[in-house]
Amino acid sequence: MAEVVIVGSAVEAGAIAADRIAALVARKPDAVLGLATGSTPLPVWAALRERGVDLSRVRGFALDEYLGLPPGDPESYASVIARDVVEPLGLDPALVRVPGDDGGPVETAGARYEAAIRAAGGVDLQILGIGRTGHIGFNEPGSSLASRTRVKTLTDATRADNARFFDTIDDVPRHCLTQGLGTILDARELVLLAFGEAKAEAVAGAVEGPVSASLPGSVIQLHPEVTVLVDEAAAGRL
Ligand code: GLP
Repeated sequence: MAEVVIVGSAVEAGAIAADRIAALVARKPDAVLGLATGSTPLPVWAALRERGVDLSRVRGFALDEYLGLPPGDPESYASVIARDVVEPLGLDPALVRVPGDDGGPVETAGARYEAAIRAAGGVDLQILGIGRTGHIGFNEPGSSLASRTRVKTLTDATRADNARFFDTIDDVPRHCLTQGLGTILDARELVLLAFGEAKAEAVAGAVEGPVSASLPGSVIQLHPEVTVLVDEAAAGRL
């Protein structure tokens, strides 16, 4: 069962998650972190930065990446992870991976990424946001609960939500590479964060609804070590 912590603010949630990461890295300086993009994890990175934790040996694996953006596009998740996590927190860029970043064929990118995660010994702590559709990573409704890293099509709802990062909605990619739900469940610990009323329904479904491919975030109920950090608004339907 997930431990649900209702916090006063996103800043408070960021502090709790950052403390978890700091404790992990104190124990294991080359810990493997599962990195999420989106606006939700930003308070985690900010709190980690304040703590001045040495993350130079930490290895990182991003959850997902858009397909079809030009190399180096500032909205690619490789760029976002570099800008929001690697540079400000002093991670070694050579130790941080994003799906598809090896430039190999896209059809086998998922299998290569899975192999890289295995070779690193698996993810110790996975940070997760959740989309309005209940997606984690980019596992949209209908994703197999046992899925591994693969190509997926983005829903119109997710493309509309992410259009804020692009000039027009037509510029939002239609496809992505994402860790599967099975991949995410292999992490030793999950910390899911969600803030604001728009996430309340997805949070309620993930924490209390039936475990179902129609709300992919509900797979967290199958994991033995999950913390859900939500503000009052995101907890509104619990
Ligand atoms: C994005 C990402 C997810 C993220 C979610 C929520 O599409 N692929 O990993 O958790 O949507 O984003 P935000 O945190 O900006 O609300």
